[in-house]
Amino acid sequence: MKAIVAENLTITYDGKPALEGVSFSLDEGETLLLLGPNGAGKTTLLRTIACFHREYTGRLEVFGREPCDARELIGYVPQSHSLNERVPLTALDVVAMGGLYRRGFVHFRIPREILEKAEEVLGFVGLAHVRDRLFRELSGGQKQRVLLARALMSDPKLLLLDEPLSALDPSARAEVTGVLSKIKRERGITMVITTHDINPLLEIGDRIMLLNRRLIAFGRPEEVLRDSIIKSVYGPLARVIPVGGKLFCITGDVHLPRKGGGGR
Ligand SMILES: Nc1ncnc2c1ncn2[C@@H]1O[C@H](COP(=O)(O)OP(=O)(O)O)[C@@H](O)[C@H]1O
Ligand SMILES: [Mg+2]
Repeated sequence: MKAIVAENLTITYDGKPALEGVSFSLDEGETLLLLGPNGAGKTTLLRTIACFHREYTGRLEVFGREPCDARELIGYVPQSHSLNERVPLTALDVVAMGGLYRRGFVHFRIPREILEKAEEVLGFVGLAHVRDRLFRELSGGQKQRVLLARALMSDPKLLLLDEPLSALDPSARAEVTGVLSKIKRERGITMVITTHDINPLLEIGDRIMLLNRRLIAFGRPEEVLRDSIIKSVYGPLARVIPVGGKLFCITGDVHLPRKGGGGR
């Protein structure tokens, strides 16, 4: 089953194209890394797949349905969460909220079965021990894992993640990457992940898409990660180099791993 099919997809804002003529498909269970400079249309594509933006032409299907008919299959983690951190929500509250919205209304008191599920999902992301801590007091990596847990509450078949690693330090990135890898391995959820820095995510990427207002390249990592392709988007200084048998992309703001250390 195809998780996503796009054919000649053009997405516009007030008639002006942000993304033009994009065609690709993604199989169920695969992880797609979406790469491209600022303004390339990454967020636009994610939001259109999630039915938050509806102005497009061409074909776009999520598990064989139009995006807006597939909403209950989709989990979306936006780049910056809109939680009001002045409200003293605990980690468990935030996760449980993911189960409430799905029912179409907000409860005064959270039903027991939702709290139990929230505890289970918090455990899955390795955060059972912070369930009663305030969300706003968690570390960046912990917050991102809580937000992942919140998105898992609705048992999505497709998880869309907008720059889940941005603004995280290397150790927090490793925490979050670990959870993404576990989601893929243990739950088999199809994922689309936009990222500035592809290197921490290369291990879990089955497909890579390079966007710059149109589709520059799409395919397996070894097909897409070539000097000529990377340079065409990021400029002449960008390149791909093998480090310890793995590919590594230098796109301008990315550094080589330190000796002996992983990450960046
Ligand atoms: N709500 C909006 N209204 C009008 N134009 C928008 C809106 N959101 C994004 N755009 C435009 O669409 C293009 C792609 O933006 P975006 O999808 O945010 O790129 P990326 O996530 O790759 O940085 C940009 O030119 C941006 O200005
Ligand atoms: Mg964006």
